[in-house]
Parts: sequence; C-alpha cells; structure tokens
Amino acid sequence: MARINPSILAADFVNLERDLHRISTADLVHVDVMDNHFVPNLTFGPQMVGRIQDVSTIPLDVHLMIDDPDRWAPGYAELGAYSVTFHAEAAADPVALARRLRAIGARAGIALKPGTDVTPYLELLPEFDQVLVMTVEPGFGGQSFMPETMPKLRRLREAVDGSGLDVWLQVDGGVTTETIVTAADNGADTFVAGSSVFRGEPAEQIQALREAVAG
Ligand code: DX5
Ligand code: ZN
Repeated sequence: MARINPSILAADFVNLERDLHRISTADLVHVDVMDNHFVPNLTFGPQMVGRIQDVSTIPLDVHLMIDDPDRWAPGYAELGAYSVTFHAEAAADPVALARRLRAIGARAGIALKPGTDVTPYLELLPEFDQVLVMTVEPGFGGQSFMPETMPKLRRLREAVDGSGLDVWLQVDGGVTTETIVTAADNGADTFVAGSSVFRGEPAEQIQALREAVAG
C-alpha cells in the first residue's frame, strides 16, 4: 500500500503543532532539515525536530539536506526518528552511516539528487531501508516534478524486486494527484508531498493522493 508522507516544509512554522495534527491521517511526517550549505535554504535542526517528535502522533521521516551527515545524522536517530535519510552526495561513508542509523534503531535512507547516477548504489541496496529519488532539485517546496528522474526510479524498482529486499522507494518534490500516478507507475511506494497537501484541507488532500494511486 502507498505511503503518503506530508512535508511540513509547507506548513505554518508558527502553528506547527496545529498543522502536525492536521496531517494525522498520513503515514509519516516528512521533516526537511536544511543547513544553507548542502542546499541554499535553512530550516531547523535537532532541537526543533525533537519537539516535533514530542507532539506528532505519527512517526517522523527525517530528510537531511545537510553537509557532513556522517557527523549529524545519528543524532536524529537518537531523537527517535522512525527513518533518517541522508544525501549520497554529502556522505563520506554511506554504508558505515547507514549501519550506525540501523544500530540506533532507525530506518536508514539514502537520497539522490536529480543529476546523481544510481548505478553505484544498486549493489548497496541491502544496506538501506529506503531510497529517496528527488524529483526536484532539493532546497525548496513548490517546484515542478521532473519526469526525467523516472528512469532512475524504474532501475531501482527492478533492482529491489530482483533482490527480494523490502526497500521502500520514495519520491519527493512536485508530487500532486497527477504526478503521483507517474511515480507509482515507475515503482515508487512512498510519496512526499508538501505544497499539494497544505494548499487545501490537508486531510482531504491526503485522501485524494491515496485514491489517485489506489486503483
Ligand atoms: C525539497 C524538500 C521537499 C519539499 C517538497 O527540497 O525535500 O520535501 O518539501 O515540497 P513540494 O511537495 O511542494 O514539492
Ligand atoms: Zn524532503
């Protein structure tokens, strides 16, 4: 079954607790951590994520768009995040980091920017619980879905199915009731959506996304 993970990047940061409760019918809450170095935008760090963890009724799917995740990612797992995803382009030793995250008890995720080749990571799939295919350039909400990333997603789907592993394949960026169908057709099972969820009534938008991929 498809997982729908609303991104609180599109929430109202001064009414975050209210907005977290508005998405309680979702599967996980997607939490975008940005450091103004790996991406040209800044959100928040561990102190804020710890408070989100305290008040959210659904588990946290933390997406780290930061330099040096080898140093910082384990701290998010220690806060109790259900999954912690770091960028392949930023990690010095992705396999060692994934093993540390799993040892702490989090699902380990690796994210690939639109221009990043998936080939070197296919043989590393047993080390990860999820792979995040960025369908926009990371850094900002509200951008348009990039269909040119779909061949990469399809290669991952074939590799995961061929291996028999249970690795979730996630897309993030520009996901709407239309583009979610494209992503699902190409093998995604986990969908991050920010502006399309918070643009209207979140519970209705979440339901609309579920229905778009239900049949
Ligand atoms: C972008 C973030 C996304 C963002 C998606 O760098 O990783 O999670 O919130 O926003 P939308 O759904 O508006 O493209
Ligand atoms: Zn994200």
